[in-house]
Amino acid sequence: MRAFKWGVLGGGQMGFAIKSGAVKAGVIRGSDVIVSDPVFNKQSYETKWKSFGAKCKEENKEVIQNAKFILLSVKPQILPEIADELAKLEEDQTVISVIAGQKLEKLESLCGKAKVVRVMVNTACSIGHGAAALCANDAVTAEDFEEIQALFNATNGAVDILPEKGFDAFTALSGSGIAYVYMMAEAMADAGVHGGLSRDYATKVAVQTILGAAQMAAQTKKHPAILKDAVTSPGGCTMAGVRTLEKLGYRSSIIEAIIATQERCQNF
Ligand SMILES: NC(=O)c1ccc[n+]([C@@H]2O[C@H](COP(=O)([O-])OP(=O)(O)OC[C@H]3O[C@@H](n4cnc5c(N)ncnc54)[C@H](OP(=O)(O)O)[C@@H]3O)[C@@H](O)[C@H]2O)c1
Repeated sequence: MRAFKWGVLGGGQMGFAIKSGAVKAGVIRGSDVIVSDPVFNKQSYETKWKSFGAKCKEENKEVIQNAKFILLSVKPQILPEIADELAKLEEDQTVISVIAGQKLEKLESLCGKAKVVRVMVNTACSIGHGAAALCANDAVTAEDFEEIQALFNATNGAVDILPEKGFDAFTALSGSGIAYVYMMAEAMADAGVHGGLSRDYATKVAVQTILGAAQMAAQTKKHPAILKDAVTSPGGCTMAGVRTLEKLGYRSSIIEAIIATQERCQNF
């Protein structure tokens, strides 16, 4: 029996988004979380973790020794640095890796005797609206997998069990894709400012427009092209914008960006 149910190695953005989201959703207790990160000696993130009662440590061995489910949320390049620590994991422990591009096979070879679950998610899980994909190695029990799934169900709008071969595409589309939507919001707001709106107002309207479009697509389940056609009247203003976007390679730039992201994931 480990002292903490939930451990986190790497208390940065993603680790915090997942755990704070789960605490907010009420599926885990903050006091059941132990997190390690060398930045804790430089404080900032430590204050955030402590705000919901997590135990903060600077040394990974505290998490390795004391937690049952361990969220691995360091950058991929840190893995060699912590390999000796990961090798000490025991068979009663399960590692939940959110590291982009790191396959189950590699994680298994690094994580001692621990079972391994691979997850991809985006930062919107901190407010319960992420999209997550999960896959597990054969050693993970149905009971443990259910607990892990419950954690992600509570912090995401959609959770799917995805064959591992789809992970890099999912990472590019959703884990990174959320950044490209923010860029769209930023660009739309810039255009609003160019048109004379205040920065705050233009940003608010841009965000609400994206939110509304996403809700329409999700709720109506209509193909995005049909929803686009519905606001594109013959000879109208929207069609003038559509023509310009097509001329500038709008859809192709998004496709290429997501493919480039996927290729980068494959090269970690
Ligand atoms: N951000 C996203 O949207 C996103 C989405 C999906 C998946 N991911 C994955 O999530 C992982 C973490 O990304 P992130 O954005 O959360 O990065 P991050 O904010 O930099 O968090 C990683 C944390 O790990 C800490 N760290 C560095 N060396 C460590 C060590 N030896 N032991 C323990 N912790 C250590 C870092 O401290 P320092 O800052 O001092 O180095 C940092 O606080 C990545 O593998 C990424 O692929 C991220």
